[in-house]
Amino acid sequence: MKIGMLTSGGDCQSLNAAMRGVAKTLYNNTNDVEIYGFLDGYKGMITKNYKLMKEEDFSGILTEGGTILGTSRTPFKYINEPDEEGRDKVAGMIKTYKDLKLDCLVMLGGNGSHKTAALLSQKGLNVVTLPKTIDNDIEGTEMSFGFQSAIDVATRTIDEIHTTAASHSRVFIVEIMGHKTGWLTLHSGIAGGADIILIPEIPYNVNEVLNTIKKREKQGKKFTIIAMAEGAISDEDAKLSKKELKEKIKTYTFPSVAYQLSDELQKRAGQEVRVTIPGHVQRGGIPSASDRTFATRIGVEAAGLILRKEYGNMVCIKDGKFSKIPLEEVAGKTKMVNADNELIRQAESLGISLGRKA
Ligand code: F6P
Repeated sequence: MKIGMLTSGGDCQSLNAAMRGVAKTLYNNTNDVEIYGFLDGYKGMITKNYKLMKEEDFSGILTEGGTILGTSRTPFKYINEPDEEGRDKVAGMIKTYKDLKLDCLVMLGGNGSHKTAALLSQKGLNVVTLPKTIDNDIEGTEMSFGFQSAIDVATRTIDEIHTTAASHSRVFIVEIMGHKTGWLTLHSGIAGGADIILIPEIPYNVNEVLNTIKKREKQGKKFTIIAMAEGAISDEDAKLSKKELKEKIKTYTFPSVAYQLSDELQKRAGQEVRVTIPGHVQRGGIPSASDRTFATRIGVEAAGLILRKEYGNMVCIKDGKFSKIPLEEVAGKTKMVNADNELIRQAESLGISLGRKA
């Protein structure tokens, strides 16, 4: 059996754990498996840049962050445009698959990468995928690997900010990744005891944010921690059309949403506000124990799909159990936090403000 394997899109802590899970299960359950690792994502498949993996390549990597295969972004919107060398990307990938006489391609990736996986599957390639992202925004699965490790990093940042915020009686904004969704901010905000959590799915009202800070002051709480998603948006901006918003954003001089809110809060409340952005640290370092276990188990399930020839599917978690979902049901969708998500209700019950008007 010949398997192609690649990691695509932004990396995360437990990619190696997941690949190891796939490989060990395959080696353990069949005598006849060759794994071709494509280097730097789909790019390696387009340019036929690969490494014939040895069993030992998958040893000792469980605790290693990043990806032993390297990764890159191959935006789907340009998939039908030739690459820098003038190569047809889709034709290149199909040719590589055929030249190497692969039985299946295993792709570990996030939202965008799943569009390409679904396209290759439509074109007749056998594809099995694993949901990878710190954003946890892949449609069709309750959990992606990488997410739990990133929650730990973001939470630790909020934890560490608490002491300095308290000493200086300051407002702190911790800007958290998550792309267009608020999963990471919501989970780490609750875990870190943030007082205000701002996510893209619930546009925030600046006055409401100010009111919460003032209310806390009256209660003798001199500091406030705001966990703010990188994609958070004010209710004023949310009212604009896409085009109007694009124009408005061009006029912004701040490097990110947290700095913009910080400026507004300082101007309106005259209060000291500081911004902390953990950034790519959230994707780096050693995977957490729970993430390692989860990624390993996803790997085992993916190998099961390959061995049973259940191609065209992503491994997923549905109702808390491992399952599979067809790629066409995953591709092109984003799993957002619904306003009726129980995390929202629970956060508000705790007294955390989500910045929306009461
Ligand atoms: O999708 C993972 C993610 O880390 C997002 O949270 C973030 O918006 C984006 O990738 C950052 O991308 P890049 O690594 O290309 O800067």
